Amino acid sequence: MIYILDTANLQEIKRAYEYYPMEGVTTNPSIISKEKENFIKRLKDIRKIIGKESMLHAQVLAVTAEEMINEAKYIVNEIGGNIYIKIPVTPEGIKAIKILSKDGVKITATAIFTAQQALIASKAGADFVAPYVNRIDNISGNGVEVVGDIVELLELNNLTTKVLAASFKNVQQVNEVSLRGCQSVTVGSDIMDKLIEHALTELSVKQFINDWKNAYNKTTVL
Ligand code: E4P
Repeated sequence: MIYILDTANLQEIKRAYEYYPMEGVTTNPSIISKEKENFIKRLKDIRKIIGKESMLHAQVLAVTAEEMINEAKYIVNEIGGNIYIKIPVTPEGIKAIKILSKDGVKITATAIFTAQQALIASKAGADFVAPYVNRIDNISGNGVEVVGDIVELLELNNLTTKVLAASFKNVQQVNEVSLRGCQSVTVGSDIMDKLIEHALTELSVKQFINDWKNAYNKTTVL
């Protein structure tokens, strides 16, 4: 499993990279606009924190393939390092994915709601496909099932595209897509914390310290 952070907030990124085995950051236009800062400056600041090797996924805003390609090349040139360009799976997006992937640009196909959208994006050359788990749940679909179908379809077609499940609102959704063979997830910092936190773990640690203190009158093994 590859854990990626779904935020453009620098403090959240610093903290998650300090504590957890993070391998990348994803953004989208809504996430970036929350920060109210210049797009390229914010991407550069994120790059400084995560380093050149870590994945940074940044999305185009254009709606025609030609403009998407221009925006993608601009982002790649400005940011560099291990950069992935996120492109929504509209017909124009698929056209852009075909052209950009042939040019060697790494692509994350995004805004995916169905397994066929993911399969077509993969065939067009996407490196990652990003199904929106919670948004699918919110239209009375089953986000986890869609992720499972995508994993299966990619395997059946011998495609190497990875599934980057996105749009999570709880830990259970993350756990369920992990069990369906999803290779990567992008989660907000709140969900990342919740994946590791457990009251009984905290309680166990307190008990260990109390027992040690009672026996040795100190709180360290040193
Ligand atoms: C990935 O970056 C997606 O754009 C993101 O996870 C969507 O999440 P949301 O449905 O919470 O907006």
